[in-house]
Formats: sequence, structure tokens, C-alpha cells
Amino acid sequence: MSKVLENRQLNEDFWLLKAACSDQPAPGQFYMLRSWTEYPLLSRPISVFDADADSVSFLYKVVGKGTRLFTELKPGDEIELGRALGNGYSPVHGKVAMVGGGVGIAPLYLAAKTALQNPDTTVDLYLGFSGTPVLEEEYRKVCTKLDVKVGGFITDDIEPKDYDVILTCGPVIMMKVLYRKCKEQGKADALDISMESRMGCGIGACLGCSIETSNGMKRVCKDGPVFKGSEVFFHE
Ligand SMILES: Cc1cc2nc3c(=O)[nH]c(=O)nc-3n(C[C@H](O)[C@H](O)[C@H](O)COP(=O)(O)OP(=O)(O)OC[C@H]3O[C@@H](n4cnc5c(N)ncnc54)[C@H](O)[C@@H]3O)c2cc1C
Ligand code: FES
Repeated sequence: MSKVLENRQLNEDFWLLKAACSDQPAPGQFYMLRSWTEYPLLSRPISVFDADADSVSFLYKVVGKGTRLFTELKPGDEIELGRALGNGYSPVHGKVAMVGGGVGIAPLYLAAKTALQNPDTTVDLYLGFSGTPVLEEEYRKVCTKLDVKVGGFITDDIEPKDYDVILTCGPVIMMKVLYRKCKEQGKADALDISMESRMGCGIGACLGCSIETSNGMKRVCKDGPVFKGSEVFFHE
């Protein structure tokens, strides 16, 4: 069990939760969070937003029973985190773009912060929101250029040909549109996507999160959640 250090509401839907933890999770990894004993049955997968030597933070959107229960947590309460799961984004350098939609912006904070530590790397962040944007100033500090769009399509703003690597997380339709644009501009292999799927165990045992890829069925929790865009959108 971990101690909750902070849990604050950022806008109508988004909350930031910080818990004591001495793991060193990689950007793009996630934890199976649980702040209840019996119901709901399953823990909930939430990406690492940020981490330091003593804590890990999560940016979460309230969509149902589990995430609503997270909002009741107060500093000093206990939460079950388990351990960091999944593969995470591969280390990146060069001209990097990161494209997030909605709560899909969550894993890109630590990804950008980590990438920007390489002296030969620039990180342009493209964040799309349907409602009030959150944490704009925090994101600005971990990138070279920040583009925030409210409403509309954040994928309209990026030119994939300008980048060596592109990381994305968000609604599947957004990531698919981005993949098509990458492909048109000869950058299909530059795109890494973080997939979402309903999860049971989170550790590769139940197969409940499996998706079809060009290399057969893959488990989002264990083989992912990060995949090459071309592996998942191979029909495009
Ligand atoms: C690897 C991974 C990382 C994630 N990272 C984050 C994160 O950083 N922040 C965050 O807020 N959320 C994240 N999610 C999504 C989060 O796990 C779900 O929103 C959460 O489990 C919903 O639980 P609930 O009990 O509140 O909603 P439920 O009551 O279970 O469901 C409410 C509604 O949300 C839909 N829903 C639930 N889970 C998902 C899902 N995984 N994909 C699509 N629709 C879903 C349901 O179909 C239903 O309509 C992540 C999911 C995965 C797989
Ligand atoms: S959630 Fe059980 S195998 Fe992925």
C-alpha cells in the first residue's frame, strides 16, 4: 500500500493524484490502481504522469465508478499501486514530437521531461482538449514548443515530415489519423502509439486486453501499451 500525498481537481473532469513510491517507472508505463476493497472487482490501469525518487503522480479523468472513487482520496489515505507495468516508450532523441488527446496527454509529461534531458533533443508537444486545458504551464516547462488546441483536431497542426520520432497517446481515431498523415509523409515507422484496452489482470495472464496486430494477437498490458503505429494500424 502507498500513502496518498496529494489529490487535487484540475478542471471539471481531470484530477492529479500523487502517491508515495520509490519505483523508477519508465515513461509510458502504468500501474493498476485500487483504492477500494471489494467493488469494483478490477483494479484500474492509469499511466505514470510523473515520478521522482519518492513519489509517482497520475493524471486521471473521471469516467466511471473506479475513477470516481479515486476522487475521494485524501492525503494520508492508502492506495494500492502494485508495480510499474508494461513496456513504456523507447528512449527517444533528435527532433521529437509528442501528440496527446484528452487524458492521453498523461504519459507524455514524463516522456517529454525525460527526452529533453538529452542535449541533442528537441521536443514539440501537441496537446488537444475538448474542454478546459489542464497543466499547460507544467507541460510548457518540459518541452521546446507547446501547441495547445481546444476543440478541433490537434493532428491538423503537426507535420510528421519535420520529425525523427513521434509519440502519441489518446483516442484511437486520433492516433489513426496521425498514422495516416505519417504514412503520407514517409514517416510511418517514426510513430509509436500507446494503446488503451479494458484490462483484467494487467500482467499478461488473462488475455483480456489482447488486440490484433500485424504480428498476431498482442496483450496491451504486457506486450504494450506502446506499439509501433504500423503494427496496430496495418490495415490503414
Ligand atoms: C494502459 C492504460 C493506461 C491508462 N492511463 C490512463 C490515465 O493516465 N488516466 C486516465 O484517466 N485513464 C487512463 N486509462 C483509462 C482508465 O483505465 C479507464 O478510464 C478506467 O479504467 C475507467 O474506470 P472506471 O471504473 O472509472 O470506469 P468504468 O465504470 O469501468 O467505465 C466507464 C466508461 O468508460 C469506458 N472505459 C473504461 N475503461 C476504458 C478504457 N481502458 N478504454 C476505453 N474506455 C474505457 C467504459 O466502457 C465505460 O463506458 C488507461 C488505460 C490503459 C489501458
Ligand atoms: S489485462 Fe490480463 S492479459 Fe492484459
